[in-house]
Amino acid sequence: MLTRPVKIAVDGFSSCGKSTLARELSRKLGFIYIDSGAMYRAVTLFAIRNKLIEGDVVDETKLFSRLDEIEINFELDSDNNPLTFLNGENVEDEIRHITVSSKVSFISAIPEVRLKMVLLQRAMSENKSVVMDGRDIGTVVFPDADLKIFVTAAIDVRAQRRYDELAAKNQTVSFDTIKNNLAERDYIDQNRADSPLKKAEDAVLIDNSDLNREQQLELALSLVKKVLNEG
Ligand code: DC
Repeated sequence: MLTRPVKIAVDGFSSCGKSTLARELSRKLGFIYIDSGAMYRAVTLFAIRNKLIEGDVVDETKLFSRLDEIEINFELDSDNNPLTFLNGENVEDEIRHITVSSKVSFISAIPEVRLKMVLLQRAMSENKSVVMDGRDIGTVVFPDADLKIFVTAAIDVRAQRRYDELAAKNQTVSFDTIKNNLAERDYIDQNRADSPLKKAEDAVLIDNSDLNREQQLELALSLVKKVLNEG
């Protein structure tokens, strides 16, 4: 029986299966799940809809002046899958579209956007046991997390997974477009000045290129058990 809220941080590269892992872990443990990438995607959708980004240029002054208009929250559907809401509208499908994926790294590089998201992520998790996935969870959001996992996989494996995911939703995007988008996001995420993607020193690395979902989950659960028994 847990006597205190437990924080589990799952960070890693784009489309490496970290959301799947974080969601499955949260279900097994009965913790809440927070997909921090969905929050950056929702801000990006807001910026696109309001013409605050053209190409890769963000109108930062206008975006800052409108940050307070952006409300993000999550609700569960009938199968217990989280849905992302932007100002009361279910945008879960739209934020996964390639038009959002191709702009999200520019929006998530902006320090004011990051600050707002980090505060929101901490507020959503207050006094709760949570599994949160993203890029800076173990380094910035929860530097004292009970367990930090850093997930990676070969880029071709990641591109194929995202391709299959989009194809299942009837979104036809070529393999190369997806792979280039992932490589571009990896580069921007790792090289931005504010909260770049990097493995926290005390994070456990999982390369899941050759692991299936069940094997990855088993491995992560064994890490959780270890830290909970120690604590
Ligand atoms: O996990 P994802 O692919 O849905 O994330 C979308 C983008 O958001 C990703 O390109 C980087 C950014 N992101 C971030 O900067 N920090 C986070 N904690 C989560 C996501």
